[in-house]
Amino acid sequence: MGIRLIVGADEAGVDYKDQVLADAKADPRINEVIDIGVNRGDAEFTRPYPYVGIAAGEMIKNGQADRAILFCGTGLGVAIAANKVEGIRAATAHDSFSVERSVLSNNCQVLTMGQRVIGVELARRLAKEWLGYSFDAGSASAAKVQVLTDFEGC
Ligand code: RB5
Repeated sequence: MGIRLIVGADEAGVDYKDQVLADAKADPRINEVIDIGVNRGDAEFTRPYPYVGIAAGEMIKNGQADRAILFCGTGLGVAIAANKVEGIRAATAHDSFSVERSVLSNNCQVLTMGQRVIGVELARRLAKEWLGYSFDAGSASAAKVQVLTDFEGC
């Protein structure tokens, strides 16, 4: 089964979010793309980044989606917000190696990037790469991720 992917951003990341949304719609690995905003023209266009990160995290926690790619100015705010949701592992990554390790080492369900940090073509490429990785539950990393899960008690 394909990935159910959330894309989201605050107003400082909306342009990159819209580009990754378009890419995801054309990506055969993606089963469903869920755009949680913000979107230009919406009354809530200026919704602060914590609402975006928390909403994405809760949807994954509740089983409504598998993964999320989120944007804000730096990528940091939406990552911090998503990480407040129990069981969610979100990482800001702007390089290929960190993007890979966020899944293979850390089993992150959420990737965040900053529209004010990297160019759009790099963001698109990193999003595409990230979607190609799957965590190996039989790997040596699994016991380390389990420490986080145990700490949260979920
Ligand atoms: C703009 O509100 C900016 O602070 C936000 O997009 C983000 O970079 C925060 O982490």
